[in-house]
Amino acid sequence: MATNILEVKDLQKVYPNGTHALRGVSFDVTEGEFLVVIGLSGSGKSTLLRCINRLHDPSSGSVKFNKDEITTIKGQPLRNVRSKIGMIFQHFNLIPRKTVMTNVLTGTLSKTGVFKSIFGIYSEEDKKKAQELIELVGLSGKERHRADNLSGGQQQRVAIARALMQNPKMLLADEPVASLDPATSHSVMQYLKKVNEELGVTILCNLHFLSLVRQYATRVIALKGGELIYEGSPKEIDENWFKTIYGEEAVEVTID
Ligand SMILES: Nc1ncnc2c1ncn2[C@@H]1O[C@H](COP(=O)(O)OP(=O)(O)OP(=O)(O)O)[C@@H](O)[C@H]1O
Ligand SMILES: [Mg+2]
Repeated sequence: MATNILEVKDLQKVYPNGTHALRGVSFDVTEGEFLVVIGLSGSGKSTLLRCINRLHDPSSGSVKFNKDEITTIKGQPLRNVRSKIGMIFQHFNLIPRKTVMTNVLTGTLSKTGVFKSIFGIYSEEDKKKAQELIELVGLSGKERHRADNLSGGQQQRVAIARALMQNPKMLLADEPVASLDPATSHSVMQYLKKVNEELGVTILCNLHFLSLVRQYATRVIALKGGELIYEGSPKEIDENWFKTIYGEEAVEVTID
């Protein structure tokens, strides 16, 4: 039987300004899944990912990663968990003037320490691994190019390679293709799929376009006003569900 890598139970998040962004969200993620979170702008998708990797502290509820409760841990235990949960952002968050190789190597930061990384002291083993990951995301030959000279899709692939440096068990991706054109979006999604299928890394990803969701998600959850209102296969999102999730007035825009 498949094991749960993540168990989220009755998660609540109230921001200091009083916004109630998550209202009792519960779901499990099975090892190896490609689970996509959908919902209107402001429905709580980013908040959910941030409460999982503890960029934000949830107000109450439970998040278990590999059966360990992680909502209250701090210090080294938190760093250990974070090294197993990689993160990818909409705007890539690379160091613009550094090379592809250096950006990927910064993925070892929690192991290497800030001092070593500032002086570029990386082990041969790390360099070899970075090289392999650059190949995995199809960027061989670009190792010495500056990150800010790459296209958006290429930059996101560098970010994927960087996130893989610590051998994460799971990747959280917050709108990873929202800044990209349709063709490039598919290319980046294909690499995430490859990481999911070939390396067995579980993916938890927020996406806007349902056509991408249908193509890449193994399962979907939908948030509305901070509540989980749908959990199931992407195929089961018919017109009725679409209107429930996105509103009566919504019209589906496709990305081909
Ligand atoms: N740091 C914050 N402080 C206060 N309120 C916040 C903060 N971040 C988000 N919110 C609010 O919490 C709610 C959920 O926001 P969140 O960013 O999680 O939505 P989202 O689904 O990711 O939206 P989008 O699709 O636009 O990225 C919104 O009402 C938002 O205004
Ligand atoms: Mg968001």
